[in-house]
Amino acid sequence: MRVRTCGAVAVILGLAAAMPVAALAAGPYAALDARLQTVEQNPPALQSLLQAGRHQTDSFCVYCHGSAGNSVNPEIPNLAEQNPAYLLAQMRQFADGQRRDEYVGVMQKLAGTFTPAQEVTIALYFASVPLTRHPVANATLAAQGAPLFVQHCAACHGGSGMGRGEYPRIAGQQPKYVMRTLRNFRRDAASRPSVVMSSATASLSDSDIQALAAYVSSLSVPAGSYLAHYPNPSFPGDN
Ligand code: HEC
Ligand code: HEC
Repeated sequence: MRVRTCGAVAVILGLAAAMPVAALAAGPYAALDARLQTVEQNPPALQSLLQAGRHQTDSFCVYCHGSAGNSVNPEIPNLAEQNPAYLLAQMRQFADGQRRDEYVGVMQKLAGTFTPAQEVTIALYFASVPLTRHPVANATLAAQGAPLFVQHCAACHGGSGMGRGEYPRIAGQQPKYVMRTLRNFRRDAASRPSVVMSSATASLSDSDIQALAAYVSSLSVPAGSYLAHYPNPSFPGDN
């Protein structure tokens, strides 16, 4: 494990100081980490990066994803407090056509307009803004989802649904969006191919999916933005 001192960024964001080498070196982490290393030398640069992220997303993304990535439409995902590596990977999947938004049909066109630096800025910005906590909508249904989650999902998304790296945080995600997404994975929809998610959902019934969506959306996200936990190698919120 490489131990990394985060200097000024640690002071500002309360970052943990260590992260596995593999996670740093691989995929989207390399770009995110390079960006963080640049700004950690320079706290005003971090502030301007987050402001730039807000500026790039405030005028347009808010229409669907809500103010600061807190969606008010249960069909459209929250982006607030999402894992930055996952956000980056999804913007790239939309841009290269691997993932298609068939709900409103806009994401694939939009994602292609960002430069790599803008993608990183947007991912770090959304990771830095807190997710609004909502009361549990259907406690009985959510309770039915709990054992299914432990059996089928926790190994990758973490016991509290916080995910890590390219495993998304599904805790607190919009329930109808989760339901639609799980059904798409189960039928191996061309608009969102994922071998791991297709096999994780293959044996689930419609009522299992309903209960799981209720459960994951009811999971609370610990206080503080995801960026405050990044790059903590443990699942934030797991005990
Ligand atoms: C017209 C509505 C609309 C606008 C505007 C919009 N999005 Fe989206 N976005 C969606 C929908 C719908 C989805 C989910 C698509 C699906 O079902 O797979 C999505 C998904 C995403 C995802 C993947 C989230 C996840 O949990 O997998 C990211 C990242 C994203 N949008 C970023 C952005 C950014 C950044 C902007 C602004 C530059 C933006 N979106 C503007 C509708 C929109
Ligand atoms: C083997 C690892 C693995 C398992 C097990 C797994 N997932 Fe996933 N999950 C992933 C990965 C990786 C992705 C991102 C897929 C992509 O790139 O589109 C994902 C994506 C998702 C998404 C989309 C999130 C979003 O914001 O769009 C949801 C919802 C989800 N998983 C829920 C579940 C549930 C519920 C279970 C249990 C039934 C489960 N996952 C089991 C690895 C896993």
